[in-house]
Amino acid sequence: MIARALSSPWQALVEHRRQFAGRTLSSLFEADPDRVARLSLSWDDWLADWSKQRVMPETMALLLDYASERNLESWTAALFAGEKINVSEHRPALHTALRQQSDAPLRVDGEDVVPAIRSAQSRMRALATQLRGGLRVGATGRPIHDVVHIGIGGSDLGPALVCDALCPSGARRDGLDVTFVSNVDPEHLTRALAGLDPATTLFIVSSKTFTTTETLKNAQSARDWLAASLGGGASLAAHFVAITANTEAARSFGVAGSDVLPMWDWVGGRYSLWSAVGFSIVVRCGWETFNALLAGAASMDEHFRQTPLERNLPVLLALVDFWNAQLLGCPQRVVVPYAQALALLPAYLQQLVLESNGKSVTRDGTALARSSAPALWGEPGSNSQHAFFQWLHQGTHVVPVEFVVPVRAAHPLGDQQSILVGNALAQAQALMAGKPLAQVREELSARGLSPEAIEAQAPHRVCPGDRPSTTLLLPELNARRLGQLLALYEHRTFVEGVLVGINSFDQWGVELGKALAGPLLTALRGGAEPSQADASTRALIAHVRALARRG
Ligand code: F6P
Repeated sequence: MIARALSSPWQALVEHRRQFAGRTLSSLFEADPDRVARLSLSWDDWLADWSKQRVMPETMALLLDYASERNLESWTAALFAGEKINVSEHRPALHTALRQQSDAPLRVDGEDVVPAIRSAQSRMRALATQLRGGLRVGATGRPIHDVVHIGIGGSDLGPALVCDALCPSGARRDGLDVTFVSNVDPEHLTRALAGLDPATTLFIVSSKTFTTTETLKNAQSARDWLAASLGGGASLAAHFVAITANTEAARSFGVAGSDVLPMWDWVGGRYSLWSAVGFSIVVRCGWETFNALLAGAASMDEHFRQTPLERNLPVLLALVDFWNAQLLGCPQRVVVPYAQALALLPAYLQQLVLESNGKSVTRDGTALARSSAPALWGEPGSNSQHAFFQWLHQGTHVVPVEFVVPVRAAHPLGDQQSILVGNALAQAQALMAGKPLAQVREELSARGLSPEAIEAQAPHRVCPGDRPSTTLLLPELNARRLGQLLALYEHRTFVEGVLVGINSFDQWGVELGKALAGPLLTALRGGAEPSQADASTRALIAHVRALARRG
């Protein structure tokens, strides 16, 4: 383990970090007039600028050496070739196949998966056309008018994000409204159903395994809601479409075989919005939009696959993430989309990044020599400027911030877009420049404050600055650009996993809580207490039971 930790590219990075200590971001800009050109990249009208990060061109060169030593290019080739890089589940991670634009064969266990993908896509398209055209009727013969998507985690976050970003609810164009329900909290489904007519409502039940408690409970409650007004029986099948790799379970639930759209083992849940899990996107936004999303992601795939590491956007951004997390020890990262349409992006990224790279062992099961992925959080700007930016500017923690900024507005209103973009750039500038004591004193003095008042006020107004950020400018937010953005984050997450040696495609950590929930549920219903329960859990169970008895 020590030998691995002391591999020479790693040691070179550790040494470089030592030389780096004490240098401020402003001094780095002063020392290198070409800094922005050397620490930014334009691609397809994007501009990624990480010159405000605590790196130098030499840092990037050392990180690239490290990436080569980690065999990044071979891992990337293995990902695209459908090799079984998800070693703990013996599966490929072939989400890129779902957006591949050509029909070039891609084999999993000797079988070309491309024909199955094309067939699923034409079924999605046909079913959505039927729904959108008012040709799908419910049990009473009335056309379906509202759609509720039931799913959780990767079977929810991707399509919910894309629908919210591209086809907001209420702004109905030619599509149907789709409401997303994920939480087993009864309030979620209850709110979604308020105002809907069972006779004209269809449920899309999205679950790769078709065993996830939250999704199955919500689907059963949805079926009960339908049955209460339409009567039970086989006619309710007209109100369900399922997306799953477990066709048998979906059919036993009561979904007609022709309404079960496939998923495959070789697509991870959090990488699945490009599969039939994206059916709700087709229903709400139309096939053209979904296709443009796929094409956008495919263009990022090609860039990632073909471009040398030193000009490769996902790779370079992942290297900066690696530097921040592993060498500078930042335990968090913040993503702030300056786009209300991307309000769900942080939640989507939390699953993508943290479920992928929140692991403590390497692919071969040995303890990680590095740390796992930093916590990731965020909220849209400019709202968040009025919430946690205070903490970013003056708190004691230094956390790298990522500004994701579509430049052109989808729906311009006066000069509001310029104000939004200007705010993003100003925040990045403010984080780096800060406001030194001398400047604060000067400003207070110019306002005529007494020397005593200046000294009392000044410490509160100082912003230390020297806080790192990356700015991603994309020309606009449309389906193609969103596809590129999400594929960028997917590949970046994969690269981060390769750099620390993690299998980014399993999620065994979520199983334990699921397993313990069963016996606890029995106890909450008045049954035996779980034999393994600790004193705290037993006390909590007792309190819940007491409240339940009081009604
Ligand atoms: O949270 C664990 C998880 O397995 C995710 O990886 C997955 O996206 C989610 O649950 C939903 O799983 P399913 O699609 O099988 O219902």
